[in-house]
Amino acid sequence: MKITIVGTGYVGLVTGACFSEVGHDVLCVDNNEQKIQMLRNNRMPIYEPGLEDVVARNVAAGRLHFSTSLIEGTDFAEVIFIAVGTPPGTTGEADLSYVEQVVREVAEHMDSYRLLVEKSTVPVNTAEQIKRTVLRYSRKDVAFDVASNPEFLREGTAIEDALKPDRVVVGVESERAAQLLKAIYEPIITRGGGVFVEMSIASAELTKHASNSFLAMKISYINAVSRICELAGADVEQVAHGMGLDRRIGRQFLKAGVGYGGSCFPKDVDAFVHLADHLGYDFDLLKDVRLINEAQRDHVMQKIRQELWVIQDKTIAILGLAFKPCTDDVREAASLYFVPRLREAGARLKLWDPVATDNFKKLFPELSYFTSIEECVREADLALILTEWSQVAELGAGRFRELMRCPVVVDGRNIFDPNEMRANGFAYHSVGRA
Ligand SMILES: NC(=O)c1ccc[n+]([C@@H]2O[C@H](COP(=O)([O-])OP(=O)(O)OC[C@H]3O[C@@H](n4cnc5c(N)ncnc54)[C@H](O)[C@@H]3O)[C@@H](O)[C@H]2O)c1
Repeated sequence: MKITIVGTGYVGLVTGACFSEVGHDVLCVDNNEQKIQMLRNNRMPIYEPGLEDVVARNVAAGRLHFSTSLIEGTDFAEVIFIAVGTPPGTTGEADLSYVEQVVREVAEHMDSYRLLVEKSTVPVNTAEQIKRTVLRYSRKDVAFDVASNPEFLREGTAIEDALKPDRVVVGVESERAAQLLKAIYEPIITRGGGVFVEMSIASAELTKHASNSFLAMKISYINAVSRICELAGADVEQVAHGMGLDRRIGRQFLKAGVGYGGSCFPKDVDAFVHLADHLGYDFDLLKDVRLINEAQRDHVMQKIRQELWVIQDKTIAILGLAFKPCTDDVREAASLYFVPRLREAGARLKLWDPVATDNFKKLFPELSYFTSIEECVREADLALILTEWSQVAELGAGRFRELMRCPVVVDGRNIFDPNEMRANGFAYHSVGRA
C-alpha cells in the first residue's frame, strides 16, 4: 500500500522505515530541509540502533522516499499519518500547532478521499478539531476520515518495537478507515505477533496518555519507595525485585534513579493533567507523580552537595547526557537539570556520552566534552552517573579509582554494587540503597 508519513522525527522516520520494511511504498515528508537532505544522502538525522540498515535497504528497494513537499505527500497516498511534534505549551497543554498546520495543508490540496491518521500523541478529542479543520480548509467536497493510531515505540529499541509491537491501537469511526489500517498493519501483526485493537477514536487517543502517565507513575512510585528505603535502611533494588516477581506488578519501570525524562513522559504527564483539568477532573495523583520526579533530582543534587561540601572549583565528570541509553535524545534528560546547576555552583564540568554529545553541544557549546570515559573521569573529584550506558559499568570500579582524583561516585542509575564500591574505597552514593 502507498502511505505518506508527515514528520520524519523519531516516530515518523521509524514508522515509515518499518512500513516500507514490510512491503509498503512509503513517502516520508518533513519541512526540515536539512533532515530530508541528510536522508537522501543516506545519513541518519537521529541515532537509533538498526535504523540506518532498514532505511538503506528500503531506499535501495525503491519502497522508501523522502520529500519536503506536503503537496507531494498529499497526492502520494490515500493514507496520511501525522507524526509531527506535540511539544508542551506554556501551561503544560500539548501544543497542537504543528498538527493543525499539516491538517490545513493536506485539506487544501486533497482532491479525493484521504484518511488522516493521528500518530502524534494528542489530547482526547483532537480528532474532532482535525475534522473541523479539514471541513473548513478543503477546497473540494471530498470524503475523508480521521483515525487515531497512537505510537508506543521506545527510543533505543524503536525498530524492534515498531516491527513487533505488543499491540496496535486504532481508533476509527468508519469501516473504510478500519479496513485501510488493518491492511497496513496486517504484515506487521502476522510477522510480529502483536494484537490489533480497534476502538473509538476518543478511547484510542486517551489510551496513549493513560499508558505513558501510568509508566511515569510506576517510576515515581519506586522513587518514592527508594526514599523510604534510604530512611529505613533497606535496599530498593531488592524491594523492586520482590515486587516485580508478582505478575500483577511486573519488573519493568520499577527502576529507582534520578527520575524519568525524555521527550514523552514529562510532556505527556503535563498534558494529561491539563486535559483532565480542562474536562473537570483534578488529577492529583499525576500532579504528585510530577512532584516526586522533580524531588528525586533535587535529592540527588543534595547528595552531591553533602559529599563535596563546596562545589566551587571541583571537577565533576558527568557520565551520560541522553535521557536513557541507546538514544541521542537529550530532551528533558537529567543532564539538563544537573549541568546548569553544577555550573552555577562553580564546578568544572567534564562531559561524556557515546552518542548524545552533538545534541547536548548545541545547547552548551562551551563545555568540555570527551569521547573516552577514561579521559572524562581522569582527575575528577566526583563522577555523576546520569545514564545507564553499559560502557560505564564496563569500565569497572578499579579503573575509576585509578583515574579519579578522589574516589567519589554519585550513581543516579544504581549501576554499581554499593558493597563492592565501598570495599574499593569509594565514597559511593546511589538511590534507595542505604
Ligand atoms: N519520541 C518518542 O519516543 C515517541 C514515542 C511515541 C510517541 N511520540 C509522539 O510522536 C510525536 C512525534 O515525536 P518525535 O519524537 O518523533 O518528534 P520529533 O521532534 O523527533 O519529530 C517531529 C518532526 O516533525 C517535523 N515537522 C514539524 N512540523 C512539520 C510540518 N508542518 N510539516 C512536515 N514536518 C513537520 C519536524 O521537522 C520533525 O522532524 C509526538 O507527538 C510525540 O509525543 C514520540
